[in-house]
Amino acid sequence: MVIKKLTLHNFRNYEDETFCFFEGLNVLTGRNAQGKTNCAEAVFYLCTGSSLRIRHDRQLIRRGEDCALLHAEAESRYGKVELEAEIFENRRDLRVNGVRVTRAADFLGNMNSVFFSPGELRLIQDGPDERRRFLNLSISQTSKSYASALLRYNRILEQRNNLLKGHDSELIFETLPIWDEQFARYAAVIIRHRREYLALLSPLAEETHRYLTDGGETLALGEDRENPESEEEIAFKICSELAASYERDIRLGFTTVGPHRDDIRIMIDGADARGFASQGQARTAALSLKLAEVEIFRRLTGEPPVLVLDDVLSELDLPRRKKLLSRTEGLQCILTCTHAERLLSGRKMNRIRISGGKIVS
Ligand SMILES: Nc1ncnc2c1ncn2[C@@H]1O[C@H](COP(=O)(O)OP(=O)(O)O)[C@@H](O)[C@H]1O
Ligand SMILES: [Mg+2]
Repeated sequence: MVIKKLTLHNFRNYEDETFCFFEGLNVLTGRNAQGKTNCAEAVFYLCTGSSLRIRHDRQLIRRGEDCALLHAEAESRYGKVELEAEIFENRRDLRVNGVRVTRAADFLGNMNSVFFSPGELRLIQDGPDERRRFLNLSISQTSKSYASALLRYNRILEQRNNLLKGHDSELIFETLPIWDEQFARYAAVIIRHRREYLALLSPLAEETHRYLTDGGETLALGEDRENPESEEEIAFKICSELAASYERDIRLGFTTVGPHRDDIRIMIDGADARGFASQGQARTAALSLKLAEVEIFRRLTGEPPVLVLDDVLSELDLPRRKKLLSRTEGLQCILTCTHAERLLSGRKMNRIRISGGKIVS
């Protein structure tokens, strides 16, 4: 996967700018608040159809304007692909090769990327939300059936939760079973996919973590709860768990069972990373997961994803920086940093300097 060209129009602090990227290493430099992360975010948005952290797309529109336009030309082993997102105040249009797509699932996965920034520490240190987000995005990019099951699941979950917030408990008791069957079916698809993904991810992340720590630490990943083998059995289990928690769900006003509540366990040297890992350990573990994700994309799609490294070099010590950079060989990498890294000298790269939302050289 290679992104060749990225055009931004009224996106964040960019008025009109076009980035031409190399197949190998692209280094975006510039002082703080010039637009490096914004550029990385644009790549991410075109890959996933969602922005990094913000809730409202309208924040992506350049202040004072009413519409942002992002366009990328990429090349995968299946040929050229053009991705476009037009973002308005209250809606957006997504296009793949000029054709409008209405489902986010059809937009995802046309250009695959793995994104790593200092914020990725949350993956290790924060609550389960972050880890589910990671799984959802990563699996959705390679599996349309996961992406669409997730979409449907979330819709049913929302409706089920709305029902639970109602006041007529008799009606609630009568209506819940109607939702539950579908709920359990999509839940089972999600759980099965996550398990398969985890089975791929675990050994790769463990291996990468060993490499990054010179064998000093072991990383282990696992499901946080046991589930039966087949989708049918999982659905059956979810159904009975749902039925057993009607009273609790009604009392709390939301659904307490299902993959929207699941987590993955991340252990470093046998201890739960969430509570015990130091800042440095967490950073390395997050990096291990991300580099493992690169490998999974390579295996599942037959080519490496675009690796976007936003401002991460300064956070790593020298040996890890070297190791990370060695793992960027053979794939397209978009790397941002405030000053040209000495480590990079001698390597062939496309250096792009950014200042005030413009490319200056
Ligand atoms: N919607 C927007 N309209 C105009 N400017 C924006 C918008 N969103 C962010 N910015 C500006 O973008 C700059 C931050 O860019 P960023 O890419 O995060 O910088 P850095 O180069 O440090 O990564 C800030 O000056 C911010 O005010
Ligand atoms: Mg930045």
